Amino acid sequence: MLRARDQVGTPGDGSNVRLGDIVLRNRLVTSSSLLGYGVSSSGFYGMSPIALFVPLADFGAVTTRTLTVEPREGHFTTREDWALHELPGLLKRYATVLRGVDGGWINAFGWCNVGIDAYLRDYYPRTRDQRVIISLGGFSAEEFVTLVDKVNAAVPAGDIAAVEFNVSCHNVNFDFSTILQDVLDEAVPRSNHPVILKLSPDYDYIRNAQQAAKAGVAALTAINTVKALRLDPRSGAPLLANCYGGLSGRAIKPIGLRVVSELREAGVKLPLIATGGIRTVDDCREYFWAGADAVSLGSAVWLASYPGYLTAPFRAMHVRRVLNAVRRYRPHPGGPAASR
Ligand SMILES: Cc1cc2nc3c(=O)[nH]c(=O)nc-3n(C[C@H](O)[C@H](O)[C@H](O)COP(=O)(O)O)c2cc1C
Repeated sequence: MLRARDQVGTPGDGSNVRLGDIVLRNRLVTSSSLLGYGVSSSGFYGMSPIALFVPLADFGAVTTRTLTVEPREGHFTTREDWALHELPGLLKRYATVLRGVDGGWINAFGWCNVGIDAYLRDYYPRTRDQRVIISLGGFSAEEFVTLVDKVNAAVPAGDIAAVEFNVSCHNVNFDFSTILQDVLDEAVPRSNHPVILKLSPDYDYIRNAQQAAKAGVAALTAINTVKALRLDPRSGAPLLANCYGGLSGRAIKPIGLRVVSELREAGVKLPLIATGGIRTVDDCREYFWAGADAVSLGSAVWLASYPGYLTAPFRAMHVRRVLNAVRRYRPHPGGPAASR
């Protein structure tokens, strides 16, 4: 069964869920970046069109795109004022950072984001109806400390669910294992908000989870994308501008399940938020059986081909059904996770 934390009484519908120190509205959250900053600056730019038809405030929490100390173009662009005639150029560029492949998606945005200051000033105040997890990314412990300090200064304790440390992204071409321990030692104790550590299936995730538990991390998210490569079969050129990218979606669901299960088998007790190819209620149930405490909707739900986005209202109906089912979901007493 779900390694359920206490249901906490709340004003409203009384359905909040506590994962250690983290309070979520329910056990279904959204994965980092798939809904941008939780709100679009210009109607729909930066948001999946499917999200326009789903009440984001109903999620357990919405996780932002990873934010860095300074704005970053990454391998894409932070520019949002595209004129209609520039659209073909924009779409061409988009195809060099995100492609539908082999039952999933491969992306290398490279932490393209507006920076923490602009997010806290321009976006966060417009998402106050949502439960928010702010994703933070940096290349040193000092950068994580700066990010934590900025969030502390702008957001009173309790106003967001958590901050999530992204130390597991492939498409910034950096070896996070060189900074992980310093990040945990220096940035976690400074945070006024519970800290979630996001794990990579390509790193030593069991060791990283044990390091996180010792450092006072509140929960883990598993998994980030899987390092991957696709080439044009005719020319041999990589499909993505960064050559390598991160694979997500249906193709990685069995890997996500393996990681969650292995973390539990290794005795990791921290609450676990699972993401990796989740699309249906049965996917959620599988992850709960494997040992997850909450589940997260990522690319299998929010991304579609361009024609696929024409059916956004119907896709959104499906998302709302999953959301309603997970809100009603109760752990199965005596299930496998209970005995771990
Ligand atoms: C287009 C795209 C952008 C992403 N950007 C981020 C990011 O900025 N920070 C992060 O921690 N994870 C990021 N991810 C990873 C997802 O949050 C998630 O961990 C991963 O895609 C696996 O879940 P899924 O298969 O359900 O999508 C991104 C994924 C995609 C597809």
